[in-house]
Amino acid sequence: MKSIDAQGYKLEVGSLLDSSLEKLLTEKYATSKKIILVDDNTYEFCLDALITNFEALKEAEVIILPVGEENKQLSIAQNVWEALTDYRVGRHDVIINLGGGLVTDMGGFIASCYKRGCDFINIPTSLLAMVDAAIGGKTGVNLEHYKNQIGVFAQPIALYIDPSFLETLPDEEYLSGYAEMIKHGIIKDEQLFQDVISCMNGNFEFNEELLIRCIEIKNNVVHEDPLEENVRKILNFGHTIGHVIEGHYMESGISHGHAVAIGMVMEAYLSMKLNGLSDVSYAFIESSILSFYTIPNFTDDDIQAMIEMLSNDKKNDANEIRCCLLEKIGECTYDHAVAESLFLETLMHFKNYQINMN
Ligand SMILES: NC(=O)c1ccc[n+]([C@@H]2O[C@H](COP(=O)([O-])OP(=O)(O)OC[C@H]3O[C@@H](n4cnc5c(N)ncnc54)[C@H](O)[C@@H]3O)[C@@H](O)[C@H]2O)c1
Repeated sequence: MKSIDAQGYKLEVGSLLDSSLEKLLTEKYATSKKIILVDDNTYEFCLDALITNFEALKEAEVIILPVGEENKQLSIAQNVWEALTDYRVGRHDVIINLGGGLVTDMGGFIASCYKRGCDFINIPTSLLAMVDAAIGGKTGVNLEHYKNQIGVFAQPIALYIDPSFLETLPDEEYLSGYAEMIKHGIIKDEQLFQDVISCMNGNFEFNEELLIRCIEIKNNVVHEDPLEENVRKILNFGHTIGHVIEGHYMESGISHGHAVAIGMVMEAYLSMKLNGLSDVSYAFIESSILSFYTIPNFTDDDIQAMIEMLSNDKKNDANEIRCCLLEKIGECTYDHAVAESLFLETLMHFKNYQINMN
């Protein structure tokens, strides 16, 4: 069991059975109601392991969120608040979020707004949530196609990362998680970027050491700037374009990680044009990422719709589109004002894009 110093809460990596969860449930929450939030898949694949191993959870109420990013909406949160009210859940009770980033983002939001805030514990079950979404206290829901437009910063009481949950994760969801691992390397640690790509090239064999390096990067950046006033913004690399791609293609089901992977290639392209990223580094990023993730075939209408969404991005300030750019691999800076016309030019560049892998 590895314990990592987080923002005043417990962050433990390893088997849940060796973690402090049992103690937390039987001491701090001995007399509290326990609510477990899952989605359809984590209900099927992950819930048993939790309930059968923790006596204190045998009587827990289970609430199932519908799977899929298009359901990360306020109306679903409202249904959960109504269920919590029916179950007479109070402010001293505890909500356990067992799932991927959808469940930890929505569950944290639901808990932190319910009766002005009740405690929650995150137990991420997807790779993406383990290395990124469950860490750092960003919670929220989408507003139609605008990603995470409604939300609050709220830290969990504890975060338990147990890699054994990954055994049932589908391959495409692994790939989605690897995108955020690539991001952690690209913005902070060139060696990590190379190691993640080597791991992916070697049939994605799971590597706990890489997982922990990624968790530490996310945790350290958040520790420095919990409310995203400055350096935490670098974690948004790839997300300015990634979020509009994810939002625009939400119904066709492009995963968060896939959209961010494409966003990183495009923001690396902007970094080469505007911020001195070398041609060689750009080419390495492009060929590494595009050998695993494909760019959708944009039509002119798709591009127009995405440009309109960009103007409403959360990171914008004073009507300027703000974006993170790389200086080199492992060094990222934030708050670059990038003209809308350059985003348009970039999306046009990647229209019907064929990568030359030679
Ligand atoms: N809060 C943050 O800082 C932050 C950071 C990155 C991403 N996010 C958010 O996270 C979400 C993406 O996270 P995600 O990729 O985990 O999405 P997700 O929660 O939708 O999970 C992806 C799929 O994997 C399934 N799944 C999860 N664990 C499983 C398991 N162990 N076995 C089988 N199936 C399993 C889910 O049911 C779902 O179908 C997006 O909403 C994104 O905005 C938040």
